[in-house]
Amino acid sequence: MIATLIVEKAAQVVTSTGASKGPLTGPGQGILTVIENGAVAISGDRIMAIGPTAEVLAQVERDSKTVIIDAGGQVVLPGLVDPHTHVVFGGSREHELALKLEGIPYLEILARGGGILSSVEATRAASEDELVAGGIKYCHQMLAQGTTTAEAKSGYGLSTEAEIKTLRAISRVNAAQPVDLVPTFLGAHAVPGEYKGEADRYLDLVIDEMLPLVVEQKLARYCDVFCEEGVFSIEQSRRVLSAAGNLGLDLKIHADEIVPLGGAELAAELGAVSADHLLVISDEGIKRMAEEKVIGVILPGTTFYLREDHYAPGRKMIEAGVPVALATDFNPGSSPNNNLQLIINIACLYLRMTPAEVINAITINAAHAVGLGSEIGSLEQGKKADLVIFDAPNYDYLAYRYGTNLVSRVIKNGHVVVEV
Ligand code: NIG
Ligand code: FE
Repeated sequence: MIATLIVEKAAQVVTSTGASKGPLTGPGQGILTVIENGAVAISGDRIMAIGPTAEVLAQVERDSKTVIIDAGGQVVLPGLVDPHTHVVFGGSREHELALKLEGIPYLEILARGGGILSSVEATRAASEDELVAGGIKYCHQMLAQGTTTAEAKSGYGLSTEAEIKTLRAISRVNAAQPVDLVPTFLGAHAVPGEYKGEADRYLDLVIDEMLPLVVEQKLARYCDVFCEEGVFSIEQSRRVLSAAGNLGLDLKIHADEIVPLGGAELAAELGAVSADHLLVISDEGIKRMAEEKVIGVILPGTTFYLREDHYAPGRKMIEAGVPVALATDFNPGSSPNNNLQLIINIACLYLRMTPAEVINAITINAAHAVGLGSEIGSLEQGKKADLVIFDAPNYDYLAYRYGTNLVSRVIKNGHVVVEV
């Protein structure tokens, strides 16, 4: 087979190896294969070979059409995977910054009809085309920063029509630009104004009307719920996730973010793929997630932006055997950031994860958190040719610099889609 593209002479090619069947845990989360003066050869949309440049060049054939990229002085990683985003929404919430600075808590802004509910108003008012245009813009920003696959949640519609509109928009955004989106139905993101004080009655609508339509129209792979005090209780979260599981969706949960309700334990009980946030996870929750191999998706950008005084116990979770992934949680309120490079910095500094653990958390473990660990998330023969090349002499440098986009090239499905 003839290589269509070869990345050669990289200072480092960095990837996990052999974790395509399941996420990395414990000491394994910190292990990376680092190939100096490395190369990756690609044929079509697949990786053909990876290794030291001399070996790869000796192994693969090329012709006059083969694209050669000299990655001298640079680091090559698998395309980054962002396993928790709310990338399709209407409007924005910069007007809430003043309230935040006055010290009004996040859940209080929501209880007053702002927060998520203000984005619901804007999302309902937006046309599907407007939602698509916004989603495409945000995905291009993500791609330029090294993200090649992302999870994408609904949850700012909160009516059957607006939830379906959002999921359709996600599917159109997916088709219209290079970042692959994995759709999640989050109808249980908040109780909309017209159901105020009637969370159970709203969940009847989610379960009896929305979920069957979402499944029938194949609009989502996952179902998620915001399990939080004043939003949905453990009992209510169990109800919606069990119904979704019975219809064949895989499960995720916004768990133990502000008040420790036991969402992590619920995720383990229901065999969820991931539990996300986890700032106030209990020791029992950590133990149960480790036992059931539920991936802990930590969102430290949100903790930073909500000015919480403590981060999720990432170190403790890894040491207890919980597979850890990291995500931006990109959304209009609690985390208007879609750059995973910033998450690398915050995770190292405040979760006390090592750069190697963090890289696995935003590549292979994140890929497993979106059900694609056998296809993406590592640079191995036969996997999808999604790569990012950083202008960095080694991978520690990614955790050291912050606030600058270090991407030099992004290769998606074997093609250069970003070139700086
Ligand atoms: O993951 N926590 C709930 N949902 C989002 C926030 C959504 C918003 O504030 O608009 C989150 O942080
Ligand atoms: Fe979220």
